[in-house]
Amino acid sequence: MKLSVPDYILSIKPYTPGKPLEELEREYGIDDSIKLASNENPIGPSPLAVAAIKESTKKLNRYPDGSGHDLIRKISNHIGFSPQHIVLGNGSDEIIGMLAFAMLQPGDEVILPVPSFLMYEIMVRGAGATPVFAPLTSLSIDLEEIKKKMTSKTRMIFLCNPNNPTGTVISKKDFENFIQEMPSGVIVVVDEAYIEFVRDQNCVKSLEYLDNITPLVTLRTFSKAYGLAGLRIGYGVMPLEIADILNRIRLPFNTNSLAQAGAGAALEDKIFLEKVISLVHEGLDFLYNALDSLGINYFPTQTNFFLIDVRKDADEIYEDMLRQGVIVRSMKSYGYPNYIRINVGLHEENVRFLKALEKSLA
Ligand SMILES: Cc1ncc(COP(=O)(O)O)c(C=O)c1O
Repeated sequence: MKLSVPDYILSIKPYTPGKPLEELEREYGIDDSIKLASNENPIGPSPLAVAAIKESTKKLNRYPDGSGHDLIRKISNHIGFSPQHIVLGNGSDEIIGMLAFAMLQPGDEVILPVPSFLMYEIMVRGAGATPVFAPLTSLSIDLEEIKKKMTSKTRMIFLCNPNNPTGTVISKKDFENFIQEMPSGVIVVVDEAYIEFVRDQNCVKSLEYLDNITPLVTLRTFSKAYGLAGLRIGYGVMPLEIADILNRIRLPFNTNSLAQAGAGAALEDKIFLEKVISLVHEGLDFLYNALDSLGINYFPTQTNFFLIDVRKDADEIYEDMLRQGVIVRSMKSYGYPNYIRINVGLHEENVRFLKALEKSLA
């Protein structure tokens, strides 16, 4: 084939997701494996969401509501912004993509913290723009470093709060100073995929700074605390001008009817959300204590996942744990060669993880 593909597309390394359970079981001929590799919610979906999804299957012969009317209204009530500020996406991943494709062109620069969520770089490159990397300082996003990287070509900045994979947060004070200094042509995107898990009172919630003047976009998802990763639904909250631009390139039915119904019901299931958050906090405290008593170092987190220092090659520990039916994430490719990342599981999964880790480290 003689394909003419832009160099900037060829420069993209495909995203590698956490290994699926089914794949592990097929490859290693085992069953009963556990996955703590994709920061998912271990409890399952909200029962109210499942009921709403079942009900909406009756109308699968129809196209979804392309405007997402009902869900957008529920989100609007939840966050206190009018529906026109909200754009739904097939996961918040899709909104990252929409922002890149609608707003960027070759020659533009986008500042990305590293390490952080890998989809920012993929989408920025996909739009032909240039990623400019701002390394973390002490595992935290360094806003001063980001400011230093700004040039007249900077069009967008991604902030991941809390940051994946380090679990650190940006403080209100730092964010406030940062956003005040932003030139009006630079869009600041704050990805809050894990915001529901944060316990630190100083962590900024970017919606508090959203108005129609500041080019600020907040991303939220139903994939994590709401337990609906498989449905693919998330949203962005943004000034009307940016929402209007995204809606020009949004596919007419980008979020499906099951996802809209499930997310709407999940948003109203406050008891479920509280249960998930408590489980994550209890699980984290349990894991911290256990790791402390084993003398294993880790970085405390504001999310449902955290980094553990295995003091050995993380890829080898990952492989060894796979053979024991436990999927974790090696952080080698993120620049932390001796760290693995795990998310909190159910209590029995956490216990099994600890046993497997001890065995792998022995
Ligand atoms: C920081 C961050 N943002 C966005 C996403 C993607 O979320 P969604 O499932 O809504 O596409 C993830 C998923 O792992 C993530 O870690």
